[in-house]
Amino acid sequence: MGHCFRSVVNSWATSNHFLKISTGFDESKKLSFHMKARLCMKSHKMKEEHKSHKYSTSLVESICLQCYKRNIPTSADVAKQERLYKKLHSCLNATSKNPVSLYQFGSTVNGFGFRNSDVDLSVAGISLIQAKAILKQTHDFTNVVLIRCRIPVLKFFYRPSGLLGDVTATNKVAHRNTKLLHRYSTISLKSKIAIYAFKYLAKSCHLSDVDSGFISSYAFTILAIYYLQQIEPPALPVLQELQSFNQVPTMISGFNTSFFDGSEKELARIWCSYGRNEYSASQLFLGMLDFYANKFDYENHVVSIRQRSIERRRESRFDNFVIEDPFENRNLASRISVQKLKLIQDFFSKAYSHFAQLQNHSWKSTKPLESRFNPGLLLHEETCVYVLRGMYNNLKEMKTCGISETNEQYLHTLFQMEQFMHKLYKRRRLPQKFHDSFSRNFSIKSLHLL
Ligand code: UTP
Repeated sequence: MGHCFRSVVNSWATSNHFLKISTGFDESKKLSFHMKARLCMKSHKMKEEHKSHKYSTSLVESICLQCYKRNIPTSADVAKQERLYKKLHSCLNATSKNPVSLYQFGSTVNGFGFRNSDVDLSVAGISLIQAKAILKQTHDFTNVVLIRCRIPVLKFFYRPSGLLGDVTATNKVAHRNTKLLHRYSTISLKSKIAIYAFKYLAKSCHLSDVDSGFISSYAFTILAIYYLQQIEPPALPVLQELQSFNQVPTMISGFNTSFFDGSEKELARIWCSYGRNEYSASQLFLGMLDFYANKFDYENHVVSIRQRSIERRRESRFDNFVIEDPFENRNLASRISVQKLKLIQDFFSKAYSHFAQLQNHSWKSTKPLESRFNPGLLLHEETCVYVLRGMYNNLKEMKTCGISETNEQYLHTLFQMEQFMHKLYKRRRLPQKFHDSFSRNFSIKSLHLL
């Protein structure tokens, strides 16, 4: 649970102008300082450099910053997660005969989490079946379900914090990838902001959803890191290549999970591209979209954050898209069909056009952030039907968890769904059954909100 954050040096617009910013869970507060610093730069003698950074004062830049500021967990959010952790730990320990260990992993501790991200936990000393029985009897935990998939997961809703939790049996490799991502999250603030915008985009369009046949949120983070390692000059290093040769490999479950985890000073010494990338956060964000829309060779190449050189696909691989796990020999996109891959590619291409045309708009934005990431604008019609199903299931889950009209996220999803429904229904692209079921269960009017 301890989160130790290092200070990061962020090269913002040019490598000559470093802003030293210490990161922490309350980074949202620091951002106002950051925004001010940027605005000062505008009036400074750096106008010349700014001309060459055409997106850096654009609306897209302000959208990226807003997205980061809105979604980065505050200390109050972290406190809520901690309460969940403590309560779960004490419940399991009080009832189980053996001492139970509980560890947090995933985005709430890897530096790329959102305010309302699910809390990922792993347990040792108790089976998930026993844990389920305990939680079922504890008032504060509702919607306790055990899902039996490749890695069985016990899902629950913790009422006092209003958070969802996922418990798995000890998964040491996931702990290592959490540490790896956390190290990446501390290297460059502008890269982190771009990753937040990229993840937020995928989340807003409900594409980071494995159950709907797309790819996980974790896989989207890997896509973003890969792009940041591949651009010239790179914005992020390949930490697994920087580990020193005489270091003893950290072997976990038969996989080498070593990576460079040294100090910032040491990183600056051994990584020759340190501080050389001069792109702004929005340029990096747009670059990611462009890369996956137009440049990445899906048929022949592998997305791998283990190495800088291009990894070619093995002929024997029949997968439609290969995103290599940083440690395990596993493809994070192994389940994606040709059809879903096409939908994702179309999404990247539409999102790229959408945000690229905003680059020349002025910095000040009066529109709410959600409207910039509205899936109705960013998705093709046929993708909408898949996404609607995902949203519908999310709403059902939220409703059964007791999250409803008063919840901002719930309302937002509801509004978006209504917009979508009308768009598709008018064009007769939506099955009648689906429309009726949605109207019966979730109509805004039926919730007396209008
Ligand atoms: P999630 O895909 O739930 O995403 O994976 P996330 O990183 O927590 O992002 P949010 O919650 O949408 O912000 C949770 C964690 O599970 C492990 C990783 O440690 C990941 O951070 N994981 C997930 C894997 O190890 N492999 C996978 O294929 C998926």
